[in-house]
Amino acid sequence: MFIKRYSEDFVTTIKKDAHHNQIGTFYYTSDLMHKITTRILEIARYDETVLLLGETGVGKSKIAKIIHENSSRNKKPFDCINCSDPELFEATLFGHKKGAYTGAVSDNPGLLNKTNGGTLFFDEIGNLSTKLQGKLLTLLDDKTYKSIGCNENQIADVRFIFATNKNLRAMIKENTFKEDFYYRIKKSEVTIPPVRERVVDIVEIFFKKKECLNQKYGKNIQTFEQSLIYLAKKYKWPGNFREFDNFLSGLFQWIPKDNKIITREDILGTIENGYFIPEESGVENLSNVYEKISGEQKNNEYASLKEFLSIQEREYIKQILNLNNGNRSVTAKLLKISRNSIQKKIKKYDLKTNSNHRLVI
Ligand SMILES: Nc1ncnc2c1ncn2[C@@H]1O[C@H](COP(=O)(O)OP(=O)(O)OP(=O)(O)O)[C@@H](O)[C@H]1O
Ligand SMILES: [Mg+2]
Repeated sequence: MFIKRYSEDFVTTIKKDAHHNQIGTFYYTSDLMHKITTRILEIARYDETVLLLGETGVGKSKIAKIIHENSSRNKKPFDCINCSDPELFEATLFGHKKGAYTGAVSDNPGLLNKTNGGTLFFDEIGNLSTKLQGKLLTLLDDKTYKSIGCNENQIADVRFIFATNKNLRAMIKENTFKEDFYYRIKKSEVTIPPVRERVVDIVEIFFKKKECLNQKYGKNIQTFEQSLIYLAKKYKWPGNFREFDNFLSGLFQWIPKDNKIITREDILGTIENGYFIPEESGVENLSNVYEKISGEQKNNEYASLKEFLSIQEREYIKQILNLNNGNRSVTAKLLKISRNSIQKKIKKYDLKTNSNHRLVI
């Protein structure tokens, strides 16, 4: 097994961008995502309507929940309505009286009522017909609505969050999205960037999810070879973090039981044996990645054993410190070294804790 060094530019990127943060189970370390999450937490405090944009699998649904959890409505319900189902949309949202239409066999209070005081997340808003968009205008303007079969106006004490992976501005030009509706939902607009603009976040997700995956699949993976970084950087991940999640699951299923390090062979085996099937539009790209992984392996210099062991040592110390909230004495005890030694290693490997005792890379 050949172990390659982490590429210099990648390590520099990690160091520069190392915020090493998480909100709930949303993990990130990139500077870009740090800025965006700071803004999201700020927006969460105001009771405004939010529009979340971004490709599929970038974490919009997860962020909608985070906004709710960090808002003053967090003790009240969070609910989601998918806008792709025009048949059920109105009845699900507004509710109906018994007998209001064929099939309405009993009273249904509707989501606006059930979510009272909380947050309602309209997912896939780009799939809502312009007719239904028109019907939501009054709700957005004065937060009132009528249940189907009812004449009385009801008040919706609900915060709205909308999300889509579609380009709404382009849809407005094509007359498939209403401009007046767009301006009502975009009071606070946040675009969540794709994987390819923040590859370092993949590393963070790997380290945060690995223990859970080890338990689930009975493995003992601790870290990875540089091949994973190549894959992460060169492959376009059209399904973004959802696709990376699937890749990790496949990898942990495929990898031999006693392996501690993910190797190039493990990555190729996972893909070739169908444990991970890349998204359609990424297939061509992925074959370049195979070549890249193989090519780099042949042509480049290998890390010395000392360098490799240092990388592993740094990673292991960082993990044990993280597991113990940065407590150096406990970490030293667990690693069976003196407190003085752990201090020296923390300095040597430039490991830092922030004010919350969260370690940075
Ligand atoms: N930063 C992150 N940390 C951990 N897991 C993440 C992160 N971002 C996304 N995921 C995971 O990736 C998957 C996709 O996330 P999510 O469903 O929130 O994406 P989305 O933008 O809503 O996608 P879609 O447009 O297809 O609805 C989920 O399993 C989620 O847990
Ligand atoms: Mg979603």
